[in-house]
Amino acid sequence: MGSMERAERIRANGLFARELAKIEELEKDRIYCRHGMGHLLDVARIGRIFILEEEADIPCDVMYAAALLHDIGRAEEYESGTPHDEASVRIARKVLEESGYDGEEIEEICLAIAGHRGEADGAGSELAQILKKADKLSRPCYACGARDTCKWPDEKKNLSVVI
Ligand SMILES: [Fe+2]
Ligand SMILES: [Fe+2]
Repeated sequence: MGSMERAERIRANGLFARELAKIEELEKDRIYCRHGMGHLLDVARIGRIFILEEEADIPCDVMYAAALLHDIGRAEEYESGTPHDEASVRIARKVLEESGYDGEEIEEICLAIAGHRGEADGAGSELAQILKKADKLSRPCYACGARDTCKWPDEKKNLSVVI
């Protein structure tokens, strides 16, 4: 396993922890998919499975950084309407600078976060593609009680065990 020291610095970062606590509080009565630590780690670990399967040249702590930070702007979206991909990029940049990532890594991670909501599959870097794929596959729609009123169209829902 690659070093997870920088991923742990993200987890312990004050700005990250404050925003995550806000998300968890604002979503506590939400019946649809939540965006707390459980989701962020699901995405990180599924991403890591793809890295291993595809023998992708992406360090583990870069995958974890993209996953931990991709939805961190959700609280800002709930509070002020800023799209969360934009808010996440802004927050991610600060957290990554404080967690030991270099300039090139920060650009790559922020580009992947900026593209994680778009419709186009297969766009962007390998990291961007894996982040998007892992995010979508992380939701067990087949086990979700709110499935019938969810805004995801049926063809996008995960209706059987995939990963
Ligand atoms: Fe998202
Ligand atoms: Fe997500």
